[in-house]
Amino acid sequence: MDRVFSGIQPTGEVHIGNYLGAIKHWVELIDQYDCIYCIVDYHAMTVPYEPGEMSRRILDAALVNIACGLDPERCTLFVQSHVPEHTELTWIFNCVTPIGDLERMTQFKEKAKQHRKHVNAGLLDYPVLQAADILLYKAHYVPVGVDQVQHVELTREIARRFNQRFAPIFPEPQVLHSPTPKILGLDGQSKMSKSLNNYIGMLEPPDVIWEKLRTAVTDVQRVRRSDPGEPTRCNIYTIHQAFSPSEVLKEIESGCRSAGLGCVDCKRLLFEHMMKELDPIRQRAESLRRDDGPVRRALIRGAERCREIAREVMKEVRSSAGLLPLDAIS
Ligand code: AMP
Ligand code: TRP
Repeated sequence: MDRVFSGIQPTGEVHIGNYLGAIKHWVELIDQYDCIYCIVDYHAMTVPYEPGEMSRRILDAALVNIACGLDPERCTLFVQSHVPEHTELTWIFNCVTPIGDLERMTQFKEKAKQHRKHVNAGLLDYPVLQAADILLYKAHYVPVGVDQVQHVELTREIARRFNQRFAPIFPEPQVLHSPTPKILGLDGQSKMSKSLNNYIGMLEPPDVIWEKLRTAVTDVQRVRRSDPGEPTRCNIYTIHQAFSPSEVLKEIESGCRSAGLGCVDCKRLLFEHMMKELDPIRQRAESLRRDDGPVRRALIRGAERCREIAREVMKEVRSSAGLLPLDAIS
């Protein structure tokens, strides 16, 4: 079975951008591939954070992923820092990666601007750690949102460089695109993200979600209720496409174009269909919060399996790079 690897940062709330761009797709892949999913806590350390909150956030990220349908009986879920080989492989990859490649990364440039006073070496090196995550398990496919495609391309480049310089041991992994690879925020302009505060959290109470939807930007050219709108210009319609059945989408398209359906009524329909999907997820999360035993056990099992794979691959890596194995000395 081909292997899939992906990661998510424990940066607080998981929003519907993460869900539609990544997690929902990850769930769909479980039966087809050997799937390994990782809570990437070392990546989250590249921007300022509160140490006292981190371990809770890591557990919570695992909990939300499981509540969203990542069944740990059918895939592997683990925490990056539980497998030290991720950072070890990063070092080796650092030595085959030109700095210029890292300085060109869009996410680095954006985050460096956002955190002007905290541009640490880890932020620049972030994509190398990501390449190590993926290649440590020799994964073939990486399901991510569009914002991560550049990092997967760099991963392929790093695999090629290592393979050429040392030994051909790594596959060149490919991106698997989610059906909804980019979800805009409630402003209808920027990518939905935690840091821009333009998001809908997966576990937010329904009344909070409705309030956010009610005030979200729609087709900006539809100014008055009587103006006809254009669904393809409207971010609410994009979200509808992810949650609502096709009959409803048809109804909205014609209603919007003829001005028969107003934006608030359209949002009510979205809210209704969105809640059909989010209600059971919120209930599962609440039940896991009451007893997080299954989450903890999943992470322990995940770390055990990943450590075994990582140990073997690192032996191969060190040997290809010409390092001296301890057991060869005696
Ligand atoms: P992060 O929270 O940055 O670790 O992202 C986790 C996953 O969610 C990655 O695969 C991202 O590509 C995806 N993702 C994050 N924000 C969005 C968005 N607004 N639209 C689609 N996918 C997203
Ligand atoms: N950088 C990714 C993000 O922000 C998270 C990530 C870390 C990842 N390591 C990975 C994604 C490996 C896929 C594969 O979303």
